[in-house]
Amino acid sequence: QNPSMSPAPPMGFNNWARFMCNLNETLFVKTADAMVSKGLLAAGYNHINLDDCWMLHNRSSKGELQWDPTLFPHGLPWLADYVHAKGFKLGIYENAGNMTCGGYPGSQDHEEQDAATFESWGIDYLKLDGCNMDLQNGRSYYEEFKYRYSKWHSILSTLKRPMTFSESAPAYFSPNFHLDANNTDWYRTMAWVRQTGELARHSDDIKVYSTLPNGTFESGGHWDSMMNNYGMQVRLARYQKCGFYNDPDFLIPDWLDLSLDEKRTHFALWAGFSAPLIISAYIPDLTDSEIEYLTNKDIIAVDQDALCEQATLVSQDGHFDVLTKNLANGDRLVMVLNRGNQTNNTVIPLERLGLDSGERYKAKDLWSGSSTTIRRGVVEISHLKSHATAILRISGAGRKGEKLAVTPTGMI
Ligand code: DGJ
Repeated sequence: QNPSMSPAPPMGFNNWARFMCNLNETLFVKTADAMVSKGLLAAGYNHINLDDCWMLHNRSSKGELQWDPTLFPHGLPWLADYVHAKGFKLGIYENAGNMTCGGYPGSQDHEEQDAATFESWGIDYLKLDGCNMDLQNGRSYYEEFKYRYSKWHSILSTLKRPMTFSESAPAYFSPNFHLDANNTDWYRTMAWVRQTGELARHSDDIKVYSTLPNGTFESGGHWDSMMNNYGMQVRLARYQKCGFYNDPDFLIPDWLDLSLDEKRTHFALWAGFSAPLIISAYIPDLTDSEIEYLTNKDIIAVDQDALCEQATLVSQDGHFDVLTKNLANGDRLVMVLNRGNQTNNTVIPLERLGLDSGERYKAKDLWSGSSTTIRRGVVEISHLKSHATAILRISGAGRKGEKLAVTPTGMI
């Protein structure tokens, strides 16, 4: 791992899921300004990341990548200065194969030159996608990926400017993408990307924001897309370590077909995973309630926790998923997701969480901020709405005699 890199999962913005190729300088300037004025930068969201389609279709006569001057009239070094002056880092997108997924020049066989270009522009973060891989020197698909990402890793480690390396390689071997009954290539790709970079995109794209030709919004699908990536993430907890994070893709807070409870679930689960919290939305138009949950300090602290653990699944029944992880100060995180279609209650015995039923514990509801004492050796979850998530921080400081049930009041 790059020692100068923050060991915590990155937080910030990326244009892809919301805007796809409709990106330009104004969008990034307005986004940076709004992230300051809405308190997102102060809450820790300090990355502004460009995705595909920022460049021209051809390299320069010297073989360099070129930004599209119609989209970025002041140029990317100017944009880097602009966001740096406000306290952000600037991220860019390239592709390990010979063409990006959007059809722009890829970095295959141009790795050194492209790394030098990004360094000279003041780039701090590279998302390296995996479309259009040309198999060379008899290498298999898997071997070519390993070769290209390892090559980028060695080059990045020689640069003077530290660059966070976000690797999309595992997504190209994921169960929904790659025919491999035992997912062997997916898992073995996870095993090496944790040695070569800081982030691993491992699953499908979170569904993009799309409008139909008649201008109406394409409804449906975003909850399922989020739950699909959640399901893939829970299979990969063992690969995560401080400085290397599994990446289940963007937060999508301005999707019209997600309820506020569903958006908050997305945020809580991703934080419980210590996943990157990269928002793909039109930030200037985010509502107060969206900003309020996205800047919840207690939940962000869980995401950025110094143990860097990914919450794992404790139990899953028809209604509820229960997840837990340890936190650096000895506390325990417990999340309860209501996957069902109705408001429901549940009771989780402390033993199921590996906690001692004879101990007295205190539970803080991270939505409402209120603390209660756990009674009768069970965590009680009352009136949890459909697709909502209770998120509790449990510590061993309960005082004898308090008579309170753990109710996720913030969710009701
Ligand atoms: C596929 C990636 O998974 C997306 O996040 C996005 O980067 C697109 N490619 C861009 O073409």
